[in-house]
Amino acid sequence: MIITFGTQKGGTGKTTLAIAFANYISGLSQRKINVFDFDYQKSFYHKWKEDELLDIPKLYDVEIIGEEEEQPFSDFETLINLKESEEINLFDLAGTLDAKYSDLLIYSDFIVIPFEYSDVSAKSTLVFVNFLGLLESQAERIFIRSKYDKGYKYLNQEGMDAEISRYGTLLKSPVFKRNCLQNMDTRKLTYEQKYTVKNPFNELIEYINETLQISL
Ligand SMILES: Nc1ncnc2c1ncn2[C@@H]1O[C@H](COP(=O)(O)OP(=O)(O)OP(=O)(O)O)[C@@H](O)[C@H]1O
Ligand SMILES: [Mg+2]
Repeated sequence: MIITFGTQKGGTGKTTLAIAFANYISGLSQRKINVFDFDYQKSFYHKWKEDELLDIPKLYDVEIIGEEEEQPFSDFETLINLKESEEINLFDLAGTLDAKYSDLLIYSDFIVIPFEYSDVSAKSTLVFVNFLGLLESQAERIFIRSKYDKGYKYLNQEGMDAEISRYGTLLKSPVFKRNCLQNMDTRKLTYEQKYTVKNPFNELIEYINETLQISL
């Protein structure tokens, strides 16, 4: 299967959540996990490389794809094989819309879309979901509140939740804003990090299992 972390807006937490999810699911699932860094900045890949210095075994491999080519997948079959595979294939995208992402966005099983409650984030999120609509993407859209601050009353929260819910599934549990997510590595989750992501990720996993009628 293919699970893609993407949205048009930069800095919303795609890479943070992709790393956290890869680590989290590694601890839960028997399936092989493969990570594909599809961002020209290669933040996930660099972090994973840097973590080779750690004295902890790696949980998964991270591959860079589509660095220069217009057509990042050597052929269409490669993408379909990833989709049909029992392995968990995670993609981390850049915060830009790019034609090179089209096939991936069309054939992903799930697109996890982190967002924040701000006018800029609202607009970018809607641009992104409209782009998915234009592509006629088959993927299930899953929205996740990122860097959520419990003590803050967001003026546009209700309206945005309602708007977003027209396009996909909004996870009930947010990922709270926590410093512990700012220094994550690709080989483990600390107790605090696990505690921060477990509710939204359990919801996400349950949703994936129900949708595909599998057990991750
Ligand atoms: N829940 C959180 N709590 C606190 N800080 C967070 C949280 N999620 C992400 N951050 C911080 O926000 C910044 C941007 O996060 P991240 O790099 O994951 O975003 P991104 O969407 O991948 O950005 P880009 O579009 O550049 O790839 C990072 O400094 C990260 O540590
Ligand atoms: Mg990123």
